This record gives sequence, C-alpha cells and structure tokens, in this order.
Amino acid sequence: MCHDVRTPEDALAARLIQSTIGALELYGIHLGKELGLYAVLRSRGAMSPSDLARTAGIAPRYAREWLEQQAVAGLLHADTSSAPADERTFSLPEAHVNVLVTEDHPAHLAPLAQMVAGIGGALERVGRAYRTGDGVAYPHFGAAFRSGQAGINRPAFVRDLVSRWIPAAADLHAALTSRPLRVADVGCGAGWSTQAMARAFPLAEVMGFDSDVASVDDARRNAADAGVPVQFEVRDATTLADVGPFDLVLVLEALHDMARPLEALQAIRGALLPGGSVIVADENVGEHFHAPAGELERLMYGWSIVHCLPVSLAEQPSAGIGTVIRPDIVRALATEAGFGGAEVLPVDGGFFRLYRLRVD
Ligand SMILES: C[S@@+](CC[C@H](N)C(=O)[O-])C[C@H]1O[C@@H](n2cnc3c(N)ncnc32)[C@H](O)[C@@H]1O
Repeated sequence: MCHDVRTPEDALAARLIQSTIGALELYGIHLGKELGLYAVLRSRGAMSPSDLARTAGIAPRYAREWLEQQAVAGLLHADTSSAPADERTFSLPEAHVNVLVTEDHPAHLAPLAQMVAGIGGALERVGRAYRTGDGVAYPHFGAAFRSGQAGINRPAFVRDLVSRWIPAAADLHAALTSRPLRVADVGCGAGWSTQAMARAFPLAEVMGFDSDVASVDDARRNAADAGVPVQFEVRDATTLADVGPFDLVLVLEALHDMARPLEALQAIRGALLPGGSVIVADENVGEHFHAPAGELERLMYGWSIVHCLPVSLAEQPSAGIGTVIRPDIVRALATEAGFGGAEVLPVDGGFFRLYRLRVD
C-alpha cells in the first residue's frame, strides 16, 4: 500500500497505516515472547515451521504463518530460496537477540508488546469506564500486562538502580554499604528491584510490598527461583506505617498509579526512622503540558488513557493522577505529606526522574 504524502490528510492516513502495522507487529512479538518462540529460535538456530512447532509445542500451521510474518516484518531472517513453504528455514538475527530475548539487557524492549497485549484484553472495560467514570482494576489487565510491566523495568532495576541511581545519593549509598538498613520497596510489582537491592546491599533487610496479590505471587516466585532471601507482602502503601520502621523506602514507578498518593506518602513518612529517606522514580515527563509533544509524552499519555488512569480510578476516592506525573505534582504531594520537598537526584534515569524525599 503506497501513500503519497502531499497533504496533512495524506500524512495522517499514512501515519495510521504505519501505526496499524506497528500494532499488529507488537501482537506478533507478544506471541513470540509468551509462547517462547524467540527463545527456541535463539537456542536452536535456523528452523523450519515444523521444527519450531515441535520444539515450542505449537500447531504447525500457526508456526508457519508466524515465522513468515516475522520474516516479512524484518524481525527474523528467512531463507528465501525456492524451497517449499514448509521446508523454508528462519533464524533470529544476532542483532535482535537482546531486544527480543535477553531479559536483563538494557535493549530488552519486547515486554512493551506484552503490556500492549494486556491492555488490548481490557480495552472493552476501559471504554465502559469512560462512560461511567469508574476505573478498571489492575488485575483486569491480566498476566500479559504484569509480565510486560515487570520485564520492561527489570534491566534498569538490576543495573541502574543499584549502580547509578542509589549512588547518586552518596550518603544513602554509604549507609547502605556500611550499616544494616531496613528497606521497603513499595509497589514492588514482580520484585526485580527488591531482589536487586538485596543482592547489591547484603547488609540490608529488604522487603517488597504491593497491593496486587498476583504481583506479590510473581515476586515471591521470582525471588525463590533466584534464591534471593527477600520477603514480600500484599499491603497497600497507605498502611506502611503498620510494618515500619524503615531507613529507606523506594517507590519505583508506582506513585502515579496510587489512588491515594498523599495518604501513601503520609504513611511512608510515618514508617521512616529518624534520618530516613524515600526514593521515588516516576515518569521523566516535562515540567508543563505542551502539545504537540515528543515521543516520551506521547508514550506516557498513551499508557495513561488506557491503563494508568483507569487503574487509579478503580479505587475511590482517587487523586486520578495518570501516567503523566509532572515534577510539580510530586513536589506538592511530598510537601503536603510532611517531607521537606522533593529533590531531583543528579542522575540520568532514562524514562524516569529520580526524586529524594527527606524529613527536615
Ligand atoms: C507500574 S507498576 C510498577 C511495579 C514495579 N515497581 C515496576 O516498576 O515494575 C505499579 C505497581 O504499584 C502497585 N500499586 C498501586 N497502588 C498501590 C498501593 N496503593 N499500594 C501498594 N501498591 C500499589 C500496583 O499493584 C503495581 O504493581
């Protein structure tokens, strides 16, 4: 299909075609991740449809269509000789391995496809919520979304959180490496950040808390598989003071999802030991609304309209922040919760801006 881009109408039409192709290709990536197809191709090398079907445990006709689609999309390499379709072989280019397969690698962005697929499964509910003003609770976005959410932040948590973000608060890093601090990871999801903290700072006692039961199950399983001795508990952030005290509380990409972020920060403040601090990582969006805007704002508003805002509105009353949590919102919440403001840490957090909240 070819569109000559001559007018704004043509440009928009061409953009929609590209977006549709992109969305469909994300679904293909989602299937490749969920069914372990990329992992099999990575470990076995070039495969025919019947090889892939047998090894991955999928039906041969689907294996052939998926392989051909992936090759047409340039994600896999195809042997394009005149071999019959069932004998043609397909392989995963080395340059695509980290993006599609290697879970700890900074380039591993395939989990975005799982997030989009999870949202697709909840979209009817989201549409209904737009009419009623209700929310859509996190569990409705399913295992695919949870897995994508966990996977997309995992590389940053296992690497940057402990090697760059925490060291940007030099006194905190020094304390973690010299004393047995009590650390809470609030809104821990699948617990990759909790595990990373426990591994990097073996003196610390690290606990993960999340209000979502399935996420805490995932976190416990992931930690058990890795043999990392961390504890997880289903707990709403607004009740953290009941299980304190802590020297350090982490809130990593979770504050904007909370229906009652102010009450959560007040409870966190109530759970802190004297001299304790809070590290908040949340979206690295601009200081002010402007439109049209660049990719980061488009991405964050994209998540907001179909996931984060409906999730936060599922509990009432709700602050209804949405994904686009601007720095002045974080500062205002921190001040109102009794902290001495929210200092932005001098570190490049990629999609995240890192804040440190202290008690004066
Ligand atoms: C965007 S996810 C981030 C999870 C994890 N920190 C990560 O970055 O992968 C937000 C998490 O916050 C949790 N959450 C939302 N509101 C919460 C609350 N009031 N108390 C505890 N956890 C909450 C959700 O269940 C979800 O796991």
